[in-house]
Amino acid sequence: MNETIINTLKQGKDIAESLKFLSENITGKIVFSTSFGIEDQLITDAIFSQQLPNITVFTLDTGRLFQETYATWDKTILQYGKKIKTYYPDAANLETFVTEKGINPFYESIELRKQCCHIRKVEPLKRALKDAEVWITGLRAEHSPNRNSLEIVQWDEQYQLYKFNPLLHWTTEEVKEYVTKNGIPYNVLHDKGFVSIGCAPCTRAIKEGDDFRAGRWWWEDTSKKECGLHS
Ligand code: ADX
Ligand code: SF4
Repeated sequence: MNETIINTLKQGKDIAESLKFLSENITGKIVFSTSFGIEDQLITDAIFSQQLPNITVFTLDTGRLFQETYATWDKTILQYGKKIKTYYPDAANLETFVTEKGINPFYESIELRKQCCHIRKVEPLKRALKDAEVWITGLRAEHSPNRNSLEIVQWDEQYQLYKFNPLLHWTTEEVKEYVTKNGIPYNVLHDKGFVSIGCAPCTRAIKEGDDFRAGRWWWEDTSKKECGLHS
């Protein structure tokens, strides 16, 4: 990605136009990761409704998602008539982990929680990002203090690709307004106090005034909770 493309993307005001521009100006592999959260639904809509065939939309199914998330997934592929590439954890690794540590070991220690996230999310993510030039995400700065330092376009040393975070500086209200205005399907859990939605055993609703990430791994006493997808 050259400087002109980077600057155009950084200054882009219209999400649909930015994604179209990216799609038309990058020859390498472009992937977008969706967890079916409201930000990701907005980006999915901009990709699917414009027919940008060189952007692959993928998800990592940890096997522990909410039924409401699976319902959103279903509704999305039906509404747009498109495919979402799905990655699962390596079966042998997961079988060994659950056999040895039990089904809910993440409540016991941060180390076991990170191991679970590694097997269920990080390793599949590595496969999904293989040979990609650009990785689009729905990351927003409001979600956590350490996401404030991110940039809209940044080089990712770990995965050796450009990460494009088009909604980085959008507010929650802006995201909700766009989704409502455009009739984009979203996870009903967002109407029940859930902000950032991950796996069911590790996510809960938050109360007004709580930090946005307070509902993720709430038993862990740290403000910098990440699962390793975005370290
Ligand atoms: S996480 O690192 O804490 O799990 P978060 O839920 O905030 O991430 O989501 C930030 C972005 O990471 C999403 O917009 C999406 O691009 C990506 N992401 C998170 N979870 C998944 C998932 N299960 N599958 C695909 N992408 C995901
Ligand atoms: Fe495992 Fe919880 Fe991480 Fe999901 S969020 S992969 S269930 S530790």
